[in-house]
Amino acid sequence: LRTIKSLSGMRGASEEARGRGSRIGFVPTMGFLHEGHLSLIDRAAGENDLTVVSIFVNPLQFGPSEDFRSYPSDLKRDKVLARDRGCDLVFVPAAESLYPPGFRSAVRVKELENKLCGKTRPGHFEGVCTVVMKLLNVVSPHALYLGQKDAQQAIILKRMVKDMAMDVSVKACPIVREPDGLAMSSRNVYLTKQQREQAPVLRQALLAGARSLSQGETDPVRVRKVMRAVLRGKQGARLDYIEAVDPENLERPRRMSGRVLLAGAVWFGRTRLIDNIMAKVGAGRR
Ligand code: PAF
Repeated sequence: LRTIKSLSGMRGASEEARGRGSRIGFVPTMGFLHEGHLSLIDRAAGENDLTVVSIFVNPLQFGPSEDFRSYPSDLKRDKVLARDRGCDLVFVPAAESLYPPGFRSAVRVKELENKLCGKTRPGHFEGVCTVVMKLLNVVSPHALYLGQKDAQQAIILKRMVKDMAMDVSVKACPIVREPDGLAMSSRNVYLTKQQREQAPVLRQALLAGARSLSQGETDPVRVRKVMRAVLRGKQGARLDYIEAVDPENLERPRRMSGRVLLAGAVWFGRTRLIDNIMAKVGAGRR
């Protein structure tokens, strides 16, 4: 496993691989890898000749009162896990090389960035788009692998790649879950025993929403009510948002049809967890 820290080193390794005719798969992460990340590495390693994983806790995507300073990290462990799943190269840039003095640019995907998570995390998706654009420019991969857990992030980055005619194919990969349904996340380590026991309620709320849609409910407000009722039953869960939206534009239409993205964010103590399900109106009816 190679570790590269400099942008020029990474660019050189990528040019060399492309020169050999190798296909490059790229998995951007903020480290503290879990099965969700590792499933992306599995897929990238299966579909490419060179699999690059970046590990960078991106300050631009954290708000002032968020967990940037305490974000969990264990680079040594990450490298072993990544190598064992087929990663060939770990790219660990320093903040000063990605954002040197004088750095002034930002990438925004208008409107989509302000919905769902963007409402309570202003500037978050601008930070994500800016870092991913820069990483893609340096790594220059053929394919970019993203987790579907961050559904809005995947939708926004797909839009950015399309709008900017970037030559990379974006693959959104399924959520990996704990046996009780909780979506894997680096932030799950923050949960106390009691919060951990309560955390699957977010998934249960989304499943209740999916059931009402599959039985033919088309009113997103009523679907939201069903989901909120499930969350109300759990004392420790504090709702940020839970919504039924159109997966293309993240808007809530008056009536839903076809595919519907059910997405939510819930606080358990000081930990904010997100999850989502892609559901279908009338899927359960004959
Ligand atoms: O999903 C994440 O971990 C981050 O948002 C990403 C894509 C690595 C950008 O910092």
